[in-house]
Amino acid sequence: MKAPIPDITRDLFDLSGYCCIVTGASAGIGLTIAESLAHRGADLVLVGRNAQHLDAAALKVRAIGHRVATVAVDVADDAAPQRIVDTALKLSGRIDVLVNNAGFMTFADPFDVNDETWDEIFSVNVRAPMRITRAVLPVMVKAARGSIINIGSSWSTRASVFNQDGGGVDYCSSKAALHALTRSTAQDVAPFNIRVNTVAPGAVDTPMHADHRALLFEFEKYIPLGRIQVAQDLAGVVIFLASDASGYITGQALHVNGGMLMVD
Ligand SMILES: NC(=O)c1ccc[n+]([C@@H]2O[C@H](COP(=O)([O-])OP(=O)(O)OC[C@H]3O[C@@H](n4cnc5c(N)ncnc54)[C@H](O)[C@@H]3O)[C@@H](O)[C@H]2O)c1
Repeated sequence: MKAPIPDITRDLFDLSGYCCIVTGASAGIGLTIAESLAHRGADLVLVGRNAQHLDAAALKVRAIGHRVATVAVDVADDAAPQRIVDTALKLSGRIDVLVNNAGFMTFADPFDVNDETWDEIFSVNVRAPMRITRAVLPVMVKAARGSIINIGSSWSTRASVFNQDGGGVDYCSSKAALHALTRSTAQDVAPFNIRVNTVAPGAVDTPMHADHRALLFEFEKYIPLGRIQVAQDLAGVVIFLASDASGYITGQALHVNGGMLMVD
């Protein structure tokens, strides 16, 4: 089918009635994304490992005024994709948006990178988004619409995690693979009016950096817009990609990094 032409007489950013799934939604970027989608009117399915943290997140998102369900699961588990789909369909009977956000970072270098960590990071940062995407696709194909947003990284295009300090061979490789997964998936699902894009954050002050926060802030000098990124800096672009406002955008990586990388 051909992509529908946007109706500019209505609010193109409105997500009322949408059902959005966000993985890694207990904290950090995922929680802020979930809150911002709820503020535009969406129902939310929050996915995370820790049931207690997830319940606390659900309380916050529910207070915004829409339906919320949680799935306490490791996204890398075999059963995760189907549990997520079943929960979304039970909550709303539809799936409009999937945000593959859950992920983690390591600082391995090529001299000591270990096979187990390599497999783990690929299973969470790449294989899980692929498997959850595969599980939501039949629902989106049936509805002939959908938006999948993968949270990639500026480090998909860089040599190391903190610039000249090196390290991150496994993290950088996993995020580059996620960007590639986005493009290939986008091409194959476009005929069903399903869009797939990557949002690539730069250096965001979240719990991910809790044990090296000083190092994160040293990085501030490389950011033309002058400050370390916060999760709220990603809200606008995720709402945009989730909504009809971006109906003609697919297979792209949108870099949100304060100008740290200036790439096409
Ligand atoms: N913080 C940054 O500087 C930065 C920069 C670029 C990209 N990113 C990406 O953004 C995403 C979110 O990062 P963040 O900074 O909010 O991280 P975070 O560690 O602060 O939060 C991540 C959330 O995902 C959950 N999670 C992690 N692994 C999971 C798994 N296997 N199953 C279920 N839930 C899991 C965590 O429990 C946590 O709630 C990640 O994919 C990360 O790689 C972050």
